Amino acid sequence: MSALLVDNIGELVTNGVGEGPLGIRRSAAVLIEEGRVAWVGPAAYAPAADRRIDAGGAAVLPGFVDSHAHLVFAGDRAAEFAARMAGEPYTGGGIRTTVGATRAATDDELRATVRRLRGEALRQGTTTIEIKSGYGLSVADEARSLRIAAEFTEDTTFLGAHVVPAEYADRPDDYVGLVCGPMLAAAAPHAKWIDVFCERGAFDVDHARAILACGQAVGLGVRLHANQLGPGPGVQLGVELGAASVDHCTHLSDADVDALASTRIDCMCHEGQHTSTVATLLPGAEFSTRSPYPDARRLLDAGVTVALATDCNPGSSYTSSMPFCIALAVREMRMTPAEAVWAATAGGARALRRDDVGVLTPGARADLLVLDAPSYLHLAYRPGVPLIHQVIRNGVPQ
Ligand code: NIG
Ligand code: FE
Repeated sequence: MSALLVDNIGELVTNGVGEGPLGIRRSAAVLIEEGRVAWVGPAAYAPAADRRIDAGGAAVLPGFVDSHAHLVFAGDRAAEFAARMAGEPYTGGGIRTTVGATRAATDDELRATVRRLRGEALRQGTTTIEIKSGYGLSVADEARSLRIAAEFTEDTTFLGAHVVPAEYADRPDDYVGLVCGPMLAAAAPHAKWIDVFCERGAFDVDHARAILACGQAVGLGVRLHANQLGPGPGVQLGVELGAASVDHCTHLSDADVDALASTRIDCMCHEGQHTSTVATLLPGAEFSTRSPYPDARRLLDAGVTVALATDCNPGSSYTSSMPFCIALAVREMRMTPAEAVWAATAGGARALRRDDVGVLTPGARADLLVLDAPSYLHLAYRPGVPLIHQVIRNGVPQ
């Protein structure tokens, strides 16, 4: 059995047992066998291995878990971005532009875009990514979007209820029927999750509940786009349905925060407890739509588990960079650097209900980032700087 030792780690973020909320170990080493973490401990006691990577005293942390990304699309909306920066508001109306371009693209064109963005994300430290459909909005186009997404990740999400497509504009009930019937049947074999954009101008709470219930009935896990553009019932619907995550959470009432906090459960995890419905914050969207950021501090202080993700898509957030989101969360959302790094790793894993990623403890998948920096703090302290020196995914140096 071939073993790889990552040695001479100045600061190791484990998100497990260790110092502080990130479970930090100093002067550490990690032994990797068969794609898994086999041992974590002081470098001085490191077991022998066939191969060795010298981290040179730098920081090492778990690969980022980007739990919210829309990578299957064609075209871009740079002109829409420019118009926003000149004062136009973001309404989500541009989604239909991307739907047109996506329907017109070949499978290979869509696949090439996912491959390009997946590669971009990996180079910036993302070792687990969720990928949604949602720019096809026909039975065939949603099914192929998910088929292509499944070539790149096991965390695929059916978002047939992104918006009502133009051809159904005056009969939304019929579109909901299509989503719950033939579209779900074609999508489900390629999907693990179901998502709905529950927002004024997209799907109301009754439609969202009906669609998510149909998805649950065929075994898909629930996640939601909720409370992005204004206050609304999405977050509480997510809690009602036992969603793994409600995403955006930009406009929350006290009742929304209380509902999320009420999903708290005790666990054998490092933190001792977490909320079974995670609030996933997507600061790239607020950055790119010039909107007020969500109040992460309020959620954290209420005991809600928070994840950070990119929301990578051509409309509201065309970034694949988790380090950028960490920097925004610290500077603009009053998260500490430790909270932001936790949210971008272990938090993302919780939002995907996974315990094999987001941590560096024995048994976890060996997804490690070697930084070109002595501490995880530099991810927020040195924004925009390419600090991801080396990525190891599934035990394999990339
Ligand atoms: O998460 N809010 C809905 N969906 C995406 C935006 C999609 C788009 O503008 O193309 C989001 O922000
Ligand atoms: Fe999104």
